[in-house]
Amino acid sequence: MESSSSIEAANESRAFRLFREVVESGRPLTYIKTIEEQRVSELLRDAAQRLFPTPIPVWTWSLTAGMQGRGGETSEAAVNDPRAAIEFVAEHSGPALFHLKDFHDPLRDLPEVRRRLRDIYQHCFEQGKFIVISSPLQSIPDELNRQIHYFELFLPDLSEILAFLKAQCAAITASGGTVDDNPDTLQQIGQALQGLTLDEARHALRRALASSRHLGLDSLPALYEEKRLLVNRTGMIQFVADGTKIDRVGGLEVMKKWLLDRRELFASRDQLSAEIVPKGLLVMGVSGCGKSLSVKAIASCFGLPLYRIDMTEVFSGHYGKPEGAFADACRMLEQVAPAVVWFDEIEMGITSTESAGEQGRLFAFFLTWMQEKTKGLFVAATANRIDLLPAEMIRKGRFDEVFFVDLPIDEERIEIFRIHLQRRGVDPQQFQLDRLTRLTKGWTGAEVEQCVVSALTAAHLQHRPPNDEDLLSAAGRVVPLSKTMREQVDHIRQWAYERAVRASPSEFAR
Ligand SMILES: Nc1ncnc2c1ncn2[C@@H]1O[C@H](COP(=O)(O)OP(=O)(O)OP(=O)(O)O)[C@@H](O)[C@H]1O
Ligand SMILES: [Mg+2]
Repeated sequence: MESSSSIEAANESRAFRLFREVVESGRPLTYIKTIEEQRVSELLRDAAQRLFPTPIPVWTWSLTAGMQGRGGETSEAAVNDPRAAIEFVAEHSGPALFHLKDFHDPLRDLPEVRRRLRDIYQHCFEQGKFIVISSPLQSIPDELNRQIHYFELFLPDLSEILAFLKAQCAAITASGGTVDDNPDTLQQIGQALQGLTLDEARHALRRALASSRHLGLDSLPALYEEKRLLVNRTGMIQFVADGTKIDRVGGLEVMKKWLLDRRELFASRDQLSAEIVPKGLLVMGVSGCGKSLSVKAIASCFGLPLYRIDMTEVFSGHYGKPEGAFADACRMLEQVAPAVVWFDEIEMGITSTESAGEQGRLFAFFLTWMQEKTKGLFVAATANRIDLLPAEMIRKGRFDEVFFVDLPIDEERIEIFRIHLQRRGVDPQQFQLDRLTRLTKGWTGAEVEQCVVSALTAAHLQHRPPNDEDLLSAAGRVVPLSKTMREQVDHIRQWAYERAVRASPSEFAR
């Protein structure tokens, strides 16, 4: 039997663990980079209650409100006066936590504040006083570098989100709403909120509850939509709430089988050594043959959220140097695990020669990151211009497998016809799809879809159900990419034959 305290420690959030380390190592001076000031306050309150033999007081200082205690006690003298705030700490009798907001400015601009902090360091250590500075900026003066313990407060993990959710549920019920508090439901809601700050999560919950006063599984679509809007605001990373099932992908049986096998391994990753846990795959191939579609299907097959990194945005310069922007994005993704991460058009940017050094570093970073990233991220990278990718990227060991998605073979095209008819509410049984085999040789999946759409449109315009003739005549009008861009398609295929595993079982008959 596990004792209740060890269970508690196992459920402890990542953020709380950071505070535990601060307290246990007795570090008097901590600097936390975060935009979530409120969250720091709550964590400190929690720490003050739980990490000491008897709870200790928490004081909060800000430029405008001065020093305030939990019970509403104030020390007016410290309003607008960072020096007085430090004096307050020095004179306070007994252990306490002091949360200093907006303190990066005084720290940078006032030498006497820096001096005084160094003076009282030893005193705080002996008295069990902890000063915690929170700021959205990392600005630590050199002379305090050794005394200050610095960390960045990343996004809340699932355990912190669930604790937050519990508190929110109590508030919802108290205000007359209802909550489905089945643990499985709460777990799913928690997962939907993961990837957001607590403020954003609060906002998403409020929006989801706007139309009904009930929080339950029905709220999930609204929560996912809110999350999509919130995450996508940043531009570089998108949350893809698409839900494409694997049976929507026609053909590509080899890749699908591989994925289904890997799903089991990935799901039991916590019990497995990092070597065995699937890291990810690289999918390359002809445009319009289902690379993006397959990646979306992986996420729903693994039952995980999907985040897409837009390499065009990374290289756009809107987020600073591409290398740094990319590293930031990767770091942010570590915090949303477990998830599928999709690097779309990963070869992007390699084509422009002026920043070759930058790209080299970016790829070097990526490959190292692939080796070191958390087990909870499964990477799916897609590429068209595979010939541009550096050789070490394709080499075994980086990705678990490199798949080549070729033009669909005969049976695959028929299956794709079936899928797209069905998706549009038309029963494929009523057609003789075999008749399309010859006519559609060399087509991409996207072209098959386009053919279905134009056949259905033609029938609809004539107010009648679609028939074989509609499909045949629509097919006659399609000019396939493999014809117009024969050389490029041939080049891609040739290149990939030697370097990748075909995602489909048999050769495309030329
Ligand atoms: N194998 C397939 N099964 C079902 N539909 C497909 C298949 N391949 C392509 N399609 C249809 O074509 C559309 C475009 O395919 P997708 O976006 O996956 O191509 P892609 O390989 O990512 O192309 P690109 O290189 O241009 O990004 C899909 O949304 C889907 O509707
Ligand atoms: Mg694509």
